Amino acid sequence: MLQVDNVCKKFRNTPALQGVSLQVEQGETVVLMGPSGCGKSTLIRCINRLAEPDSGDITFGGRSVLAMDSAELLDYRRRIGFVFQHFNLINRLSILENTALGLVMAGMERNAALDAARAALLKVGIGAEMWERAPAQLSGGQRQRVGIARALSGRPDLMLWDEPTASLDPILVQEVLEVMEGLAAESHAGMLVVTHEISFAMRAADRILLMDQGRIVEAGSPGQILQAPTSTIGLRYQKLWRVRYTELPLRTAAYAHKSITRPLSGGSMPSAQKMVEVQQ
Ligand SMILES: Nc1ncnc2c1ncn2[C@@H]1O[C@H](COP(=O)(O)OP(=O)(O)OP(=O)(O)O)[C@@H](O)[C@H]1O
Ligand SMILES: [Mg+2]
Repeated sequence: MLQVDNVCKKFRNTPALQGVSLQVEQGETVVLMGPSGCGKSTLIRCINRLAEPDSGDITFGGRSVLAMDSAELLDYRRRIGFVFQHFNLINRLSILENTALGLVMAGMERNAALDAARAALLKVGIGAEMWERAPAQLSGGQRQRVGIARALSGRPDLMLWDEPTASLDPILVQEVLEVMEGLAAESHAGMLVVTHEISFAMRAADRILLMDQGRIVEAGSPGQILQAPTSTIGLRYQKLWRVRYTELPLRTAAYAHKSITRPLSGGSMPSAQKMVEVQQ
């Protein structure tokens, strides 16, 4: 459905993309990960044509995105849902109006757009009691879910996500990740997701692409990347995964051990046996 072929992009002397190729099929969830500054946002922006590649090609449904005139580009963008790191909601409009705005601007009749917006909001867990509020009257996680609903409301064929949880606190991150995981599992849209959330990538991705310095350095299923990474970046993610998600019980054991030897302030040192009993 989406094909990116050998795309290069430079900013003055900074090579942001150095021959990136990838594809996303319908219904597929592809997660793009890599260190800060490696070119992930630039790639997403090139796909949406918010940035112009210097060379290479991007095709969508067999048509060259780079050769599209402005009317074709408008139509192409309507078929894409784009979720940013920042919510970009308009504060003087209600949640419902924010969600419907893109559809109305794309020419949909107002009542039909409001119906589509309501359906999208319900899908991401934003109930009717919040629809008339201003964006400022929602939590960060709720605002980002409205951003997702806005992207979903046009029933896009492709969704581009650029670090949708990056500006949220950990509890809100979880809230938004659950919505994203649900969509990844059930949506017919292809999804290209830039995220640093390794647990999301491991659970929701059909494929993971790892980027470094403007290049895709590794591609594979979550299992492949986790068990047998071949790139330096892959090894780093593997280590991160192990430390965060598989070695956690060991840290609790180490803490129990430490407290056995720590003297208590102003008192006698209890026997190790007693401390272990207390710990248990
Ligand atoms: N508009 C711009 N002008 C000049 N340089 C830019 C511009 N946008 C990006 N760059 C540079 O291009 C490189 C890639 O940036 P990009 O934003 O794509 O990285 P990223 O992988 O999205 O990083 P992060 O994880 O921090 O969001 C960086 O070196 C960045 O400084
Ligand atoms: Mg970025």
